[in-house]
Amino acid sequence: MPRLFFALWPDPDTRAALVEVQRGVRGAGGRAVPPDNLHITLLFVGAADEAMSRRLEAAAGAVGGQAFHLRFDRLGWWSGARVTWLAPSRLPEPLIALAARLRRAAMDLGVTVDARPFSPHLTLYRRCRRAPRDAQPVAAVDWQPDGFCLVASETRAEGARYDVLRHWSFAPSSH
Ligand code: 2AM
Repeated sequence: MPRLFFALWPDPDTRAALVEVQRGVRGAGGRAVPPDNLHITLLFVGAADEAMSRRLEAAAGAVGGQAFHLRFDRLGWWSGARVTWLAPSRLPEPLIALAARLRRAAMDLGVTVDARPFSPHLTLYRRCRRAPRDAQPVAAVDWQPDGFCLVASETRAEGARYDVLRHWSFAPSSH
């Protein structure tokens, strides 16, 4: 069974800007996440069969969501997970609301969700032994996601392979 998660999936321009930031990270070591794999997880679902996948799709379609702007201006790492990440220091309310609604919808379908609070981040490097030298990226990356996705993850010898199964567009923002 594939493992599923809801995510924000960068467009090609944003992806290119993120790769620049990734290349500019100093001191952390580790293995760079391949450019095509860069994303922000909104909710990790875990192993799900076809029936659950369809139920999740139906539920996510009803979640909706408003557009928002993200400015990735903060670098950090987690010593436990050994990942170096890029994150926005300001979290827009519609992003938090979206993650909360997806979480609620998944719980209503019987999914056991992560008890930890939502901490949106974009993993740049895995298997890091040290923190990056700088707390700020070489340049901040601005991004206005146009929607969110349901993604399937498969672990292969060469690393994770992600498949975007479905995309939902946000309602345009009022400003
Ligand atoms: P990460 O980037 O911090 O590793 C697919 O595995 C995505 O789901 C990754 O972005 C991963 O975050 C995230 N994720 C969140 N909780 C997870 C879990 N319990 N197991 C695996 N991946 C998880």
